[in-house]
Amino acid sequence: MNSIDTSSGSLTEYSVWDRTTRWFHWINALAIIGLIGVGLVILYAKALGVSTDGKILLKTIHVYIGYVFCLNLAWRIIWGFIGNKYARWKAILPGKGFFTTLHEYKTGFRTGNIQYYQGHNPAAKLMIMLLFVLLMTQAITGLVLAGTDIYFPPFGQTIKGWVAEDVSKIEVLKPYSKENVNKEKFAEMRAFRKPFIITHVYTFYILLIFIGLHITAIVVTEIRERSSLISAMFTGRKVFPKKPVDAED
Ligand code: HEM
Repeated sequence: MNSIDTSSGSLTEYSVWDRTTRWFHWINALAIIGLIGVGLVILYAKALGVSTDGKILLKTIHVYIGYVFCLNLAWRIIWGFIGNKYARWKAILPGKGFFTTLHEYKTGFRTGNIQYYQGHNPAAKLMIMLLFVLLMTQAITGLVLAGTDIYFPPFGQTIKGWVAEDVSKIEVLKPYSKENVNKEKFAEMRAFRKPFIITHVYTFYILLIFIGLHITAIVVTEIRERSSLISAMFTGRKVFPKKPVDAED
């Protein structure tokens, strides 16, 4: 904890985000930008006149970025059990008395009698929890699509085994090729896949809205509370004019 004297009074610096949480955040942000960018081209591939080979290449790139996204997310899920106090699931998931603290926080935010939080404030908890649900949904549906669309791991081999006419020649199966594909089984597989692609696309749109809300909320909170919220995701430290309600000591 460090004290800093400013023209508007004294601020105290508190450590909050550990290194893993900061790396997770920025790798996740970059991966999502890449996934949204390539995802949009896949979505409008027909209108853009992309060839079949072009589509396979785009989907392959999307899936490789997706693997980085999934591994990073999986590590963050584990970190939620072993990371510092502010990285833990306990600090993210709304617990007992959540709505009372949310109400108190909102009232303080409105009236100017701000309740500072070293970790996530109650409104941020809700947002982060929903963002994690959306990200996990994209990860799970994306991995299923990677298998059912271009026969990529972790489910690609199983899907090949499902749709192959001759299972002994499974390696012949290639994305968008009809060679060694059993028509009926392929239709069955596509029917199984349908809810996953629908979920993946709708969650993509919902995610776009939530990313917009997340960034807006951070900018508004930073202007109102001035606790170095944005730079804290680089430095790990926030500053406060008074003791945060969730401070350790
Ligand atoms: C935040 C994360 C993600 C976003 C925003 C996202 C977005 C999108 C979008 C917009 C599409 C185009 C839908 C279409 O027209 O087909 C798409 C397709 C696809 N995504 Fe993702 N995605 C994400 C994560 C993943 C992950 C983690 C994987 C797998 C590792 C993945 C695999 C795929 C595949 C294989 C397709 C092609 C499906 C098809 O067109 O048949 N995605 N994604």
